[in-house]
Amino acid sequence: MSTVAVILAAGLGTRMKSRLPKVLHPILGDPSLLWVLRALPAGLGGAVLVLHHGIEQVVAAVESWRQAGLLPCPVSIVDQGEPLGTGHALQVCIPELDSLGPARVAILCGDVPLTSAATVGHLCQSEALLLAMDLPSPGAYGRVLQHPDGRLAELVEAKDATAEQLAVRRVNGGAYALPWPALRRALLGLTNDNTQREYYLTDAVVAVGREIPVTVEVCDPEELAGMNSRQDQATLQAAAQRRIQLHWMTEGVSFLHPGSTLVGPRVILERDVLLEPGVRIEGSVHIGDGCRIGQGTLITDSTLGEGVEVRPYCVIERAQVGAGSKVGPFARLREGTDLAEGVHIGNFVETKKAKLHRGAKANHLAYLGDTEIGAGTNIGAGVITCNYDGVNKHRTTIGQNVFVGSDTQLVAPVVIGDGALIGAGSTITADVPADAVALSRTPQTVREGGASRLRSRQKNRTALS
Ligand code: UD1
Ligand code: MG
Repeated sequence: MSTVAVILAAGLGTRMKSRLPKVLHPILGDPSLLWVLRALPAGLGGAVLVLHHGIEQVVAAVESWRQAGLLPCPVSIVDQGEPLGTGHALQVCIPELDSLGPARVAILCGDVPLTSAATVGHLCQSEALLLAMDLPSPGAYGRVLQHPDGRLAELVEAKDATAEQLAVRRVNGGAYALPWPALRRALLGLTNDNTQREYYLTDAVVAVGREIPVTVEVCDPEELAGMNSRQDQATLQAAAQRRIQLHWMTEGVSFLHPGSTLVGPRVILERDVLLEPGVRIEGSVHIGDGCRIGQGTLITDSTLGEGVEVRPYCVIERAQVGAGSKVGPFARLREGTDLAEGVHIGNFVETKKAKLHRGAKANHLAYLGDTEIGAGTNIGAGVITCNYDGVNKHRTTIGQNVFVGSDTQLVAPVVIGDGALIGAGSTITADVPADAVALSRTPQTVREGGASRLRSRQKNRTALS
């Protein structure tokens, strides 16, 4: 497809009142700009991103998305310098667009996150198109004036409009597709002779419309709504949430309390998934058939196999959970956790870079970090892998069918062989061979009748003082 997308994102976003550039503010966990980039069709000739305010932060974010394979096409960056208007934003792209040599340019705004992939795909295949919306209160949007046959005639910014023009309810959504040669000519003729002293892209669009017919298509206003304030952000998030939940409900997912449940745009939920109230799922997440996700649980960038039960109030980040596993309540699975099938992780257990093989169990109060734990092994309550010596991290390797008694500290690096048994309360500082019993605790002393003797001594002491 010889279309290149230009995404405008150099504006300051003053009304967000934020240190973060506007286009990096999230909607359901994904920044607005990522929503826009991900809606671009595959096979595009590239996307040019126009930036200025907060450029370093935006460039770093785009690079991380590229590395994560989230970008559908190559993205190049143009620094607009001091932004002098949407037309100026396109003017500074002329050298980059000339080198890419597209037949058409599709123009989108980085702060309009909810335009669907279908709409963007259609825009990118159009010769000359402007997306508009009909609003009951058109406010500050530019007004769209059409010829009797529907073609674009004029675009008038609200600040430059007459009272009669302000009464027009059809407004410019700020998304266009235009032939590059005609747009290029129009950009070179732009002036800033208007109330805002800006170079208006809209003037260039109208100028192209004098050469070739520009179609006006009216969209669902939700698709073209911009994020200019925190209020807009909340409204957009609610709209996106409704859309995403309706989709997954159609696919066989239950939301026990849709109003308190947040599911991001890159989450995939299989059939018979059930989400309890207050669940938040963001980033790249795949949740398998029949999983139940307990109340108040947060899941990001993770994969859960079929039939996993996550009990309430768990935090699961960058983890893999095998089919039929049970997690929680109150468990924390951190980055690099890899649970095979049928693993049990119980309350107040934290795992990090921990691979647990089939059927391993850690049911209560444990820290398992930088470790591999074999199939069928049982980790008792209060077990800690002491993986950090203050400078370096070390690994704990535990074989299959091992029994690690409660309150054991495994001081890494350490290896426990298959079938070994570690007595409760041990501090294990050396490797334990397969099938061995290891125990390290102070021998117990018992003095018959000692308790009464001790108490009476204590009482006497109190009486004297
Ligand atoms: C623009 C349109 C208006 C339309 C509205 C839709 C113009 C002159 N007006 O309004 O008709 O109804 O969009 O949202 O185009 N930007 C830059 N560089 C700049 C100025 C803006 O990159 O110099 C970016 C902004 O970051 C934003 C987008 O362009 O992503 C739109 O700019 P914004 O100021 O929000 O739009 P308006 O000028 O108000
Ligand atoms: Mg403006």
